[in-house]
Amino acid sequence: MRTNYCGEIRTDDIGSSITICGWLHRRRDHGGVIFLDIRDKTGIVQAVFNPDHEGAFKIADGCRSEYVLSITGKVHARSEDTVNAKMKTGEVEILAEKIHIFSKAVTPQFPLDEHQEVNEDVRLKYRFLDLRRPESQQRIIKRSKIVSEIRHYLEENEFLEFETPILTKATPEGARDYLVPSRVNPSKFYALPQSPQLFKQLLMMSGFDKYYQIARCFRDEDLRADRQPEFTQIDIEASFVSVEDIIALASGMINSLLEKFTNYQLQEIPRLSYADAIERYGSDKPDLRIPLELVGIEDLVKNEEFKVFSDPAKDPNSRVVALKVPEGNNFTRGQIDEYTNFVAKLGAKGLAYIKVNDVQSFEGLQSPILKFLSKECVEALLENLSVKTGDLIFFGAGASSVVNLTMSSLIRKIGSDLNMYTREWAPLWITDFPMFERDKEGNLTSLHHPFTLPVNGISDLSSHPDTALACAYDVVLNGYEIGGGSLRVYDAETQMEIFKILNISNEEAKEKFGFLLSALESGCPPHGGIAFGLDRIAMLLTGTQNIRDVIAFPKTQSATCLLTDAPGTVSNEQLDELHIESTFNEDQ
Ligand code: AMO
Ligand code: AMP
Repeated sequence: MRTNYCGEIRTDDIGSSITICGWLHRRRDHGGVIFLDIRDKTGIVQAVFNPDHEGAFKIADGCRSEYVLSITGKVHARSEDTVNAKMKTGEVEILAEKIHIFSKAVTPQFPLDEHQEVNEDVRLKYRFLDLRRPESQQRIIKRSKIVSEIRHYLEENEFLEFETPILTKATPEGARDYLVPSRVNPSKFYALPQSPQLFKQLLMMSGFDKYYQIARCFRDEDLRADRQPEFTQIDIEASFVSVEDIIALASGMINSLLEKFTNYQLQEIPRLSYADAIERYGSDKPDLRIPLELVGIEDLVKNEEFKVFSDPAKDPNSRVVALKVPEGNNFTRGQIDEYTNFVAKLGAKGLAYIKVNDVQSFEGLQSPILKFLSKECVEALLENLSVKTGDLIFFGAGASSVVNLTMSSLIRKIGSDLNMYTREWAPLWITDFPMFERDKEGNLTSLHHPFTLPVNGISDLSSHPDTALACAYDVVLNGYEIGGGSLRVYDAETQMEIFKILNISNEEAKEKFGFLLSALESGCPPHGGIAFGLDRIAMLLTGTQNIRDVIAFPKTQSATCLLTDAPGTVSNEQLDELHIESTFNEDQ
């Protein structure tokens, strides 16, 4: 039908007769001449209709925004005064001879002009229109190119692509399962996979050696700007590999993406142990573009009278940290109050600070807590933190979990507010994760998943579950966790021991993971892998902070689809067939 894409027509095409197809982006009537801007996925070109071609002129006159058209005509150079330098096709136009309307369109529910801010709910409801906007199109196209680059990289490394079941049994990754009732097996349910974890391990036990899958995963969890209930993983697994092998393979993949899609200068990706990351940034996904770090000051304050600091300084489950903000002494009272409210909302009991107006004298320090601290303590603080005139120091004290959350969030906020980013891309490996953490009730849970290989074998695991380390690693980009993986347990005995530590009884383990245990007893190679969050990678590489921008049909924060209105109700007949009765009562 078409001979050329709209956005690709250039001065080289001048004189040729062409046919373009697309949507009417904008129509202008300039005293007897009609201009139609026609848009397709490559961009926009201008077609001009003169009354000489009477038939075409008349049709063009009746066209409205978003009509789907084809136009045939000659490419022509625009006169110098009408050249539009902002458009890639701004030096040419099409002198239209013929026009055909494929389809008319009602007035769009919102203008598709990139300069118009449109409420996201409206855009999601009319996603088919939203996706026509050049900005949305470019993101989705880039996502496809990212996938293609990843496939290419993995195929070059001799990985085979697999598909694993969607209707399956629970695979624990720390979220709730989405369940699907089985009609032919009344009262039984499939779970949608939280990840293909167990299937990829089984493929290693089946001898396939190198696996990958662009895998849809489903997790019923609290949603945030970087989380979706269904999302896509680049899932990778290999046999007879070490942690270093996986890190090298995955680093190569990240570097190939950054090289292809950004102007990042390739370099070795730095590494931080989990313990160091928490100590220095309060987070296992620090944004290393921001040059701010926490410094533990427990030893300096533990003997002070100021109980806000000295009590947590003496408690092994608490922390007292200082955060030096260079040139922060020009924060106003209002700004400091805003930061105090910000950390308070996250659970902090306060945000002590010292403004350093002159580092040489005690009078040069300004702070509500100076009166509670000894001179020696303050001097040691200034020295330890290499404080300069003009700096400000914030302090966080209390339960480690609260201090880590609030102070790492404060680093991100100040980094963003003051635009402190020192570079555009900061990839980072986090290694040496603990095997377990404790939940609010004090029970041990897996930090990654229960199939992770411990560094030091079963006895260390059973005797020191709180400190045992895992052969696990995460990869972080600009403060987002973009991937995580581990080596896996490859013998049934260790696997059973881990289940035991996690309070999963033998019966439950056999019922839930019997197939895995039996495969582990049947000749299992040492193996390991990683999974990347494709949506998060696409989000970062397209420069947005909203994961929905890179998903063609995303869900809202409350896991609904505004376009199709999913989830929906079903008929009583369907429920009867499934032997399901709702106990939901709207008044409850
Ligand atoms: P994990 O649970 O860390 O590991 O998931 C891997 C990566 O998937 C992305 N991700 C998400 N992206 C969008 N929305 C979500 N709700 C969401 N949840 C996770 C993150 C994360 O780093 N089976 C293991 C991998 C392995 O051990 O090989 C797993 O699923 O970027
Ligand atoms: P208070 O004695 O509670 O009035 O606190 C004195 C100063 O210490 C105030 O500036 C508070 O913001 C600060 N502060 C109180 N609790 C904490 C805490 N847990 N961490 C950091 N600063 C705190």
